[in-house]
Amino acid sequence: MYTEKVMDHFKNPRNMGEIPDADGVGTVGNPVCGDLMTIYIKVKDNRLIDIKFKTFGCGSAIATSSMITELAKGKTLEEAMKITRGDVADSLGGLPPVKMHCSNLAADALHAAIEDYYKRRGEEVKK
Ligand code: FES
Repeated sequence: MYTEKVMDHFKNPRNMGEIPDADGVGTVGNPVCGDLMTIYIKVKDNRLIDIKFKTFGCGSAIATSSMITELAKGKTLEEAMKITRGDVADSLGGLPPVKMHCSNLAADALHAAIEDYYKRRGEEVKK
């Protein structure tokens, strides 16, 4: 049912944890299952130099959080803003259809963290 990549990211999540002095934090929840995901980012010269996540959720939510931190690390804020919900699932080799909503959390939380970063600086969100 799950690809090897999903299982790998579920069993060995990358970049799990918090960044206490984060430059931006984004939390989103899934109203259907009640799962919660928070993404922390550190920004330097318009780039994501560090990113971590905390997820209270199912295995797919953990795997997609882990995957999105790998996709986003090192990217410019504009590039990271363009990472879509579909990109995350594709990078994991796909998710079972009933689990697709779990991957939405990861992209939404990342975008929320970047929006928070802009807001803290009093800047407009660049999309
Ligand atoms: Fe809730 Fe997967 S079941 S995020």
